[in-house]
Amino acid sequence: LSQIEIKLSDIPEGKNVTFKWRGKPLFVRHRTPKEIEVEAAVNMAELRDPQHDLDRVKKPKWMIVLGVCTHLGCVPIANAGDYGGYYCPCHGSHYDASGRIRKGPAPANLEVPFYEFPDEDTVIVG
Ligand code: FES
Repeated sequence: LSQIEIKLSDIPEGKNVTFKWRGKPLFVRHRTPKEIEVEAAVNMAELRDPQHDLDRVKKPKWMIVLGVCTHLGCVPIANAGDYGGYYCPCHGSHYDASGRIRKGPAPANLEVPFYEFPDEDTVIVG
């Protein structure tokens, strides 16, 4: 299937759930108010791959990215690393809760796929 439909009320606040989509891991993270605030306030000058959080999410509560490290493709671990987002154990890349690369060898942010919210409780990716 090229599209995946996800029920959002199944994902509690603070939790990242991994789905499989087009043969790849897909992360859907229900961000906390604190995470939303922290990520929106990050200074672009600190970023290796500068992107504002609001250019990476459609609704600040939901962060949706491919769970594929942009270094060599390992699957990062959620809620780990120095920036409260993801940590890739293969060679030590740290991502924030917007999926942006913050430290380590990965060159780019985690990829944001195309998605839309047909209603309040559903996201369709692809
Ligand atoms: Fe993630 Fe190398 S594959 S740090």
